[in-house]
Amino acid sequence: MKTSKEPLRGITTPIALDRSARKPFYQQIYDAYRTRILRGDLHAGELVPSSRELGRQLRVSRLPVLNAYSQLLAEGYFESRIGAGTFIAAAVPGTRISAGIRAIVNAPSGSRPIAANAAALPKYQRPSWAEDLGPFQVGQPALQDFPMQIWSRLVARHSRRMKVRDLQYGNPMGSESLRQAIASYLRTARAVRCEPGQIMVVSGSQQALDISTRVLLNAAARVWVEEPGYWLVHHVLKAAGCRAAPVPVDMEGISVEAGIKLCRNARAVFVAPSHQYPLGVTMTATRRLQLLEWAEKSGAWIIEDDYDSEYRYDSMPIASLQGLDTHSRVLYVGTFSKVLFPSLRVGYIVIPRDLVEHFAAVRQACDLCPSQANQEVLASFIREGHFSRHIRRMRRVYEQRRRVLVEAINGEFDDSFEMVGAEAGLHVTLLSRHRMQDVQVAERAAQHGLWVTALSLSYTGRSPRQGFVLGFGNTRATEIPGAVRLLKNLCKSGSKSS
Ligand SMILES: Cc1ncc(COP(=O)(O)O)c(C=O)c1O
Repeated sequence: MKTSKEPLRGITTPIALDRSARKPFYQQIYDAYRTRILRGDLHAGELVPSSRELGRQLRVSRLPVLNAYSQLLAEGYFESRIGAGTFIAAAVPGTRISAGIRAIVNAPSGSRPIAANAAALPKYQRPSWAEDLGPFQVGQPALQDFPMQIWSRLVARHSRRMKVRDLQYGNPMGSESLRQAIASYLRTARAVRCEPGQIMVVSGSQQALDISTRVLLNAAARVWVEEPGYWLVHHVLKAAGCRAAPVPVDMEGISVEAGIKLCRNARAVFVAPSHQYPLGVTMTATRRLQLLEWAEKSGAWIIEDDYDSEYRYDSMPIASLQGLDTHSRVLYVGTFSKVLFPSLRVGYIVIPRDLVEHFAAVRQACDLCPSQANQEVLASFIREGHFSRHIRRMRRVYEQRRRVLVEAINGEFDDSFEMVGAEAGLHVTLLSRHRMQDVQVAERAAQHGLWVTALSLSYTGRSPRQGFVLGFGNTRATEIPGAVRLLKNLCKSGSKSS
């Protein structure tokens, strides 16, 4: 979507008239406009209020406003268009001064402390996928295949039917109709034990992780996280002042034994048992039971991140960990980012019954309640069968993309790489059996329009495994063979030069 450069219309800039000053009103109005234009606060093309309107707002007669306006027009700060009104001029005199004034006004000064938890986060950098969509980006579903027409029809229908009461603040837990639709879906498709009252609608799994941390964990609490794992989990914990205890993941999932050795009394664990990120492992039944037992014995919470398990290719869907839990220790987190589209920003938490009120209270403290309009549209999308149809259709699309990708990898790469995690989800992972510089190769790949993710970035420890995470959700089958060949060549030329 293009950002709109349309100038503002009809917004009045605040002018504080000093009624006791000797400076006349017209001069004060003139000075206020001139300073704001030079400072860059008011932009070319913005409509200024009519002299009658501004006079009314400032509680002065129209005359001083007309005088100020005519001065600003004469000096070229304003321009008037017949029949349209008066505007900030396109070519403002003295714009060179403007930059200087702006620099002075905005110069930070003095001590500027921020919270230690915020300072501990790496500075925000716009991720590569925000600039460009290309082969192998992780976390992207097939955006081109989203049924935009159906969605737009539902948006239009809901907008037409909106009532005045729909403009009011909503429930911090989310809309009743969407929570009912989510609960039915989760009970059927994911064997999650829940009722609508336990569902909280949030803005994607990220907010679910954040709110869960705020409700369940004190600052400095130790928390098991998967190593390698999803990088944004670390950010959530850092932002809350909690301490991550990275626990190795092997081909059975997170190692509970290692976790107990490393940090027996952790207060929680963040896991993705259905399809671990980035290794794509499905946690075995034995590990699931071990994890539940540890949580129950030590009074820890399990935050189950089930972000893309709608898609399994070689076996039946795996039931959720939450469905096995008999002690209400699991908080189940899901998202519509992968099944529909990420900018929707809708996800959910299934909360143990006794914690619902605490979650609602913290939600209210964060952002009151989720935005209403999308919730109703999504509820209809699910209720009317479009959701299940879309998942079925996408399974076929992803199945083909995954098959082509697996074949291309097997055809191009020798046994210097091991492929893992192709049974489910929207990415596969290549583990290098040799020493290599995956970050450098990924950077070079990006210069060729391939958006592979370096595996080592998912580790926190000193000796990360090298390799690549290849998202295939938004990569067309026809693009895959060429892209895999290019990646292989980049790996080869990388190993020669290193
Ligand atoms: C492990 C994991 N969890 C959750 C998400 C989804 O996050 P959200 O629902 O905030 O878009 C992703 C997205 O890539 C992910 O990889």
